Amino acid sequence: MCGIMGYIGNREAQPILIDGLRKLEYRGYDSAGIAVNDGTKIAIRKAKGRIDILEGLVQHARLHGSIGIGHTRWATHGRPSDANSHPHTDERGKFAIVHNGIIENEQEIRQELIQEGVTFTSETDTEVIAHLLAKHDQGDLIQTVQQVAARLRGAYALAVMSEGEPDKLIAVRFASPLIIGVGEGEKFIGSDIPAILEHTRDVYVMEDGDLAVLTPDSLELYDLETLQPIEREQVRITWDKEQAEKDGFDHYMLKEIHEQPRSLRHTMAGRIDEAKQMVKLPELDLSPETVKGIEKIYIVACGTAYHAGMIGKHVIENLAKIPVEIDVASEFRYRNPLFGQKTLTVVVSQSGETADTLAALREAKRNGSSVLAITNVVGSSIAREADHVMTTKAGPEIAVASTKAYTSQLIAFYLLGIYFAQEKKSMEASDCAALVQELQKLPDQVEKILGHAEEIRQFAISIKEERQMFFLGRGLDYAVSLEGSLKLKEISYIHSEAYPAGELKHGTLALIEEGTRVIALSTQPHLHEKMVSNITEVKARGAVVLGVALEDNVELHRSVDEVCLIPATHPLLAPVLCVIPLQLIAYYTSVSLGNDVDRPRNLAKSVTVE
Ligand code: F6R
Repeated sequence: MCGIMGYIGNREAQPILIDGLRKLEYRGYDSAGIAVNDGTKIAIRKAKGRIDILEGLVQHARLHGSIGIGHTRWATHGRPSDANSHPHTDERGKFAIVHNGIIENEQEIRQELIQEGVTFTSETDTEVIAHLLAKHDQGDLIQTVQQVAARLRGAYALAVMSEGEPDKLIAVRFASPLIIGVGEGEKFIGSDIPAILEHTRDVYVMEDGDLAVLTPDSLELYDLETLQPIEREQVRITWDKEQAEKDGFDHYMLKEIHEQPRSLRHTMAGRIDEAKQMVKLPELDLSPETVKGIEKIYIVACGTAYHAGMIGKHVIENLAKIPVEIDVASEFRYRNPLFGQKTLTVVVSQSGETADTLAALREAKRNGSSVLAITNVVGSSIAREADHVMTTKAGPEIAVASTKAYTSQLIAFYLLGIYFAQEKKSMEASDCAALVQELQKLPDQVEKILGHAEEIRQFAISIKEERQMFFLGRGLDYAVSLEGSLKLKEISYIHSEAYPAGELKHGTLALIEEGTRVIALSTQPHLHEKMVSNITEVKARGAVVLGVALEDNVELHRSVDEVCLIPATHPLLAPVLCVIPLQLIAYYTSVSLGNDVDRPRNLAKSVTVE
């Protein structure tokens, strides 16, 4: 899970590559490097650490030339180091490559090359590709790359250049994302859209097994195996430039938290029949018979997307009366799940590239299940392999900690649940309409909660010295607690645990002592009284409790030390509101601790390895 950038055109490549890498830093940031061909030879600058370090290097020793490749790394094979940084090259320095993915037969190839006398300079799997290029050099870069690709097993997105052919760049995609940007007299390669948005909005999304040949004035796409020319559709990216930048906020995460009213509106847009107050999802292309026939649903995802899936399970079971099982994607494929003829598998992934979720999708398809993907990235691997796709319209999410993608995924589940209920007639039309009406109020209600950010910031400052915290909730509130706890852990590094409030007394209560900070969620009216009892239990052991509760829940207000109020809504929809203070608590705690909010330690935005 690294970021790739490539440029060929008439401008100096170096600043374009560095700028593109900055936009891709969320994909990995333990080292960075660039290679530029000045027309006669390739020069490389690379270093362990953030892009700033690379920029420092090139300021002292600029690289000139208008063809180049760049890379920002998140280590998989070999620790972060200067030597392991990309680009990599063969012994003569004829070829330079950058790679995202994992070469599974690296050891086998490495041994073969060592026996042939090749000296390796890094521990990376990528370096074998550079040496293979030299070994299979045909004197023609396209042919050479094709021969080398035939030897590789695993996942790879590659950008390749050769000293002897300074007029072209080659890009290859096999199970790792890559796009090509088309400008006036120039072309770009990027792992993702923000890398090139500054320069062009016209892109081609490469598919697995594509090889692209870029020159300043042409782009040719070939099938990697046969080298037959292929056609791909050019797509116009409509994201605002600002959508991919920080928009005046201190961090991407805060910007993305504040974007939620808009991302929720966008995700609902065009999917609600205003006159009938009904949900319409024509993109799914599911007949009413198919929906009526669904016997079981699996929801499969990782991390935050999994937490959204937990809410999805409640929603679909409640509204559409279809049994739903939920699985963490990395477990799903290894537990032999039972598929019936009429099982639907719903995979949820912001990036659409998460390796575990993609593998689960493939497992479901292998077993004959139809797959519906909820994803934020059009053209992602998951979107392309699923039978049905529902896109969340959150726009690019840059901060590693997911916020707006999560709430958009919740909206997708509400729309799906209501849609299934409509088709199955498992709900009264008037109840559906009432729910749709409440759904449409959510963006404004989120806006209202965001207006209280300062109070939440004060609370966050008060917990920054804590070593551990607890989140409690029941039902849907428990699912939201898990997400609140994950957010706090990943960016503040404070250990926290989310617990179903009724389960606490079966062991975890032993950890509550004088001063332990607890965040208790209570948005489900039928569980209010139970929650009050559970809050009393922890307070009796000395806990200091912040309640997150509906405006009208007076009893809860009395039972906690501090309270954060959220506007009244339908209980099923409360998670969208309830999670906002939790996102802000995590954000402000991280800021007050001086952490790198957008790029927390040990984590990367897109996890494309198992
Ligand atoms: C946490 C977070 C991760 C992702 C997970 C799945 O804030 O962002 O837990 O949710 O890695 O990623 P996607 O949704 O891209 O499949």
